[in-house]
Amino acid sequence: MKQFVKFILPHGIVRILQTRQERGYQRGRAAISKSLPSLAPLDQSVMLDFIASRGVNRAQASHGTMPEASLAFLASLLRQNYDNSRALIGLHVGNFVGISLAYLAHVAKSINSTSLVIAVDPNLEHRGISNPQNHACALLDHFALSGNVLLCCGFSHEKNVSNDGRNYLDGNRLLESAEVEQKIAQEHAPHSVIDHLKQLQVASIDFALIDGNHESAYVQDELVKIHPLMRKGGLIFMDDISEGWPMLKQVFENSSNKLFRVSEADGRVGVLEVL
Ligand SMILES: C[S@@+](CC[C@H](N)C(=O)[O-])C[C@H]1O[C@@H](n2cnc3c(N)ncnc32)[C@H](O)[C@@H]1O
Repeated sequence: MKQFVKFILPHGIVRILQTRQERGYQRGRAAISKSLPSLAPLDQSVMLDFIASRGVNRAQASHGTMPEASLAFLASLLRQNYDNSRALIGLHVGNFVGISLAYLAHVAKSINSTSLVIAVDPNLEHRGISNPQNHACALLDHFALSGNVLLCCGFSHEKNVSNDGRNYLDGNRLLESAEVEQKIAQEHAPHSVIDHLKQLQVASIDFALIDGNHESAYVQDELVKIHPLMRKGGLIFMDDISEGWPMLKQVFENSSNKLFRVSEADGRVGVLEVL
């Protein structure tokens, strides 16, 4: 039909129609470049305010997010270990509403403006916040970081139940088997993202944060799977290496082997060096 209309209309009219059609895109581009704010220093509480301004429960967003002190600890490690001679590549597992993602992407961007962080999360409801990826994308845009993040919606490894199999809104209660089965039937995202990055032979990764599913065997598998994607000397940051997650703490403490060396920890985040 389109071809037919084009055929019977004089060329001048076709051009006018095409130009009009393009005008919407041009207006969109103009609005995008106008709305980009300059890259301001990132602060965890400012980011939480932004997320809360979108109607999200601030307390739940905060409970599910790494604390400012640990984010600052990671920033100082990245600044000590890397300079602006090349773009950094990061891997970020567990995005939630985007706060640690935006923070680390901002640090990497401030070291080299073309740095890239690959961000993996299945975008399931977490702590009563549905579609958290939408908020993460808004946060990245707000801080002019959308050009430094490659978003992969999916599970890092196999499919797992959301919220670590708990109800965070009901005293962190462990879910009954029937509740877990119901959730698994309703929750959907592609899986095996790390394997797929390997299949694509994605560039060597300089640093990775692991803060997705908190089951110890799962995190152990993630470490083994991430290893071949990493540069030698690269850094892996494991969140929740604390008394609250004793099994994860154990995984971290037992991780000096052929693949990694346990480097340091701040009481919450553990750092592994890639061998
Ligand atoms: C504790 S929150 C992450 C908080 C975030 N790192 C921050 O500090 O801003 C955990 C997130 O991991 C996600 N998640 C759960 N299982 C995952 C998996 N297998 N792969 C990637 N993300 C996962 C959850 O849906 C949730 O969004």
